[in-house]
Amino acid sequence: MKRLLVVHHTVSPATHALHLATLEGARDPAIEGVEVHVRAALNAGPVDVLEADGYLLAGPVNLGYLAGALKHFFDQIYYPCLEETVGRPFGAWLHANNDATGGLRALDAITAGLKWRPAQAPLVVYGGPTTENLAAVRELGAAVAAGLVL
Ligand SMILES: Cc1cc2nc3c(=O)[nH]c(=O)nc-3n(C[C@H](O)[C@H](O)[C@H](O)COP(=O)(O)O)c2cc1C
Repeated sequence: MKRLLVVHHTVSPATHALHLATLEGARDPAIEGVEVHVRAALNAGPVDVLEADGYLLAGPVNLGYLAGALKHFFDQIYYPCLEETVGRPFGAWLHANNDATGGLRALDAITAGLKWRPAQAPLVVYGGPTTENLAAVRELGAAVAAGLVL
């Protein structure tokens, strides 16, 4: 059984809706052999990361950067996971109102430092979420989960 770890900071109504849609995709009954573990970014730690086979990261862009909770998560896990998680796949979505540039740059720098492999390009959702946005994160969740058992 492969394990997908979802690490999220989704405390607003918009991000919560996106989070639920992501989980729906990741838990698609058609995807066999993957268990989905969900951790709030402020509660996730190195053991969660070491025990997983792939990652889904999600949260807002605040003040031109990744939400502090996600930054805190990465600060906690970086050194304990640096060697053992090289090459593991990840997907991510960020929610923003108008400019996600700094958040995307931070996510790219941190995951490159960890040498994680993008299973899909990070997705940015502006405003909404619309039905299309929800479908897009649902598909992202399903694609990252399915990728673990290809
Ligand atoms: C303190 C704060 C800073 C924010 N900074 C940015 C920002 O730099 N760029 C951006 O596009 N959105 C920014 N936002 C909007 C958030 O990304 C947005 O509120 C979050 O994704 C939740 O979405 P919602 O408020 O529509 O529920 C900020 C929000 C807050 C509360």
